[in-house]
Amino acid sequence: MPSVIRRASDLATLVADWRALSAKVGFVPTMGALHEGHASLVRAALEECNRVIVSIFVNPLQFDRPDDLERYPRVEKADIGYLADLGVHAVFVPAVAEIYPEGHVTRVVQSGLVDRLCGASRPGHFEGVLTVVLQLFNMVRPDRAYFGLKDYQQVAVIRRMVRDLHVPIEIRALPTLREKDGLAMSSRNALLEPRLRALAPRLRAAMIELDDAFAAGETSVARLTAELRAALAAIPDSRLDYAEIVDPDDLGPRAEARVGDLLAVALFLGPVRLIDNLRLGDERGP
Ligand code: PAF
Repeated sequence: MPSVIRRASDLATLVADWRALSAKVGFVPTMGALHEGHASLVRAALEECNRVIVSIFVNPLQFDRPDDLERYPRVEKADIGYLADLGVHAVFVPAVAEIYPEGHVTRVVQSGLVDRLCGASRPGHFEGVLTVVLQLFNMVRPDRAYFGLKDYQQVAVIRRMVRDLHVPIEIRALPTLREKDGLAMSSRNALLEPRLRALAPRLRAAMIELDDAFAAGETSVARLTAELRAALAAIPDSRLDYAEIVDPDDLGPRAEARVGDLLAVALFLGPVRLIDNLRLGDERGP
């Protein structure tokens, strides 16, 4: 069984012990409701590091809607069992007051990348993500931290923070894992009732159609995204948040699509917000 740690002081002791052994420490931050996508990050960390710690913390600061925070799946016991089977060395499961004690007022604020895509439609989201990630980095002090590319923008803003603030941690970003029907694995998928779950693969299918149209020679972003919007609008109970083709580095909008550009989509299916992305002409990655 991994050590299950709830207090920052216990975490500091454990990490100091690991450091004394000169262990390379891998860290996988999560919000729980773990699935095979998280497992792929953990396996990579186990391969590349001597000690691996996973955090499970549903971070209230990154939720822009109270109902979304309330509904977010919480299955701590099952998660710890899952991580034990994977062979991690420790799990950090702090209470909200451990991360944000009374009087915690410091925030990590970024500009630029955070103003686009998810940042534009979820104000304050990335401030919450960056604040908790930097705090967890400082508490765990890992050598490497592992993130999934389903959250492409999250990886981009974290990389920028690490670069700008000289955080001495290597960020590893791994490809999205998918269900057999193409749906990107996500903790939120558990919130889809069966009828909506059956509709969900149409998101990826529509994105692939766009990529096919691009491969066939269409480069007008207006025309490509118009087709995509029409396909998504035909999904019952769906509401498009955004569908954009952007520069993969600065996430700025494009008028003409190029190979490697990022197609990023956020779509509500009923109450559940799904995100997905692909790199145009790039064999369906990331
Ligand atoms: O991707 C997530 O699960 C979260 O945004 C993260 C990185 C654990 C921060 O709360």
